Amino acid sequence: MIRKIIHSKPLEDSLIAILFRQLWTEGRLIAIRGINFRSRDNEAAREAYRQMHLREFEGINARQKWANWRTVPRNLEGRLPESAMVAIDLCCGIGHSTEVLAHHLPEGSKILGIEFNPEFVKSAQKKIYRHRTGKPVEVSFRAQSVLEAFRDAGGALLKDSSIDLINSCGAVGSHFDPSMTRVLAHELARVMKPGGLALIDSGLPGTNKKQLVEIFEAEGFDTLGSAKSSIFDLFTQVCFSKRR
Ligand SMILES: C[S@@+](CC[C@H](N)C(=O)[O-])C[C@H]1O[C@@H](n2cnc3c(N)ncnc32)[C@H](O)[C@@H]1O
Repeated sequence: MIRKIIHSKPLEDSLIAILFRQLWTEGRLIAIRGINFRSRDNEAAREAYRQMHLREFEGINARQKWANWRTVPRNLEGRLPESAMVAIDLCCGIGHSTEVLAHHLPEGSKILGIEFNPEFVKSAQKKIYRHRTGKPVEVSFRAQSVLEAFRDAGGALLKDSSIDLINSCGAVGSHFDPSMTRVLAHELARVMKPGGLALIDSGLPGTNKKQLVEIFEAEGFDTLGSAKSSIFDLFTQVCFSKRR
């Protein structure tokens, strides 16, 4: 009955229904299946996601999906070139954040989604990603941990200074403690072009905003600004630019 109500058409897009769906799925996951994904221990979090069915992930990611459409465009506003970009969506799950990038990045951009869970990657691969003009966007995926050197969909190591933009939603602020974030920031500094943009989420229990800024500035990034989906959002996505 509850499931029927929260999936009904008029409530589908309402924030209250989204939050309710999230709490309901999360509660069931913990109480019935003993799965708790809210961990700053990255290995424990990855394992929790690995045990989830796709429908369960859709449920627990409902708020994140809603927030991405608000946070990411706010950070991109006024900062994008007109020419096509090469972008990476870190910890892309089943592609919810990738859809936002595809919609907003300049026409002709290419996106690589990197995600640990191969089942999520398979699901993300089935979607069609569209630019706001309606044209399909070239998106590829790689199943690996983002704590290892980044590789493309075919397994080739990404070249130094080859990426224009890197995005992270619902990952660093939730599942990466500062020591893990340092590893990630180091790899971002390697693959990103000077002047490239990195949009990285921060919060607790993962890496908070102050820690994130310290880590990225030490790796050669400047902080340009930050965005939240709403004033009630507990997470903040920070926008950095790699120093030239
Ligand atoms: C809350 S979901 C966010 C998914 C997506 N970014 C979005 O906004 O819809 C977090 C994702 O991070 C992935 N993840 C966690 N640690 C990872 C790691 N070390 N490498 C790659 N993916 C990871 C999980 O498997 C999960 O799909």
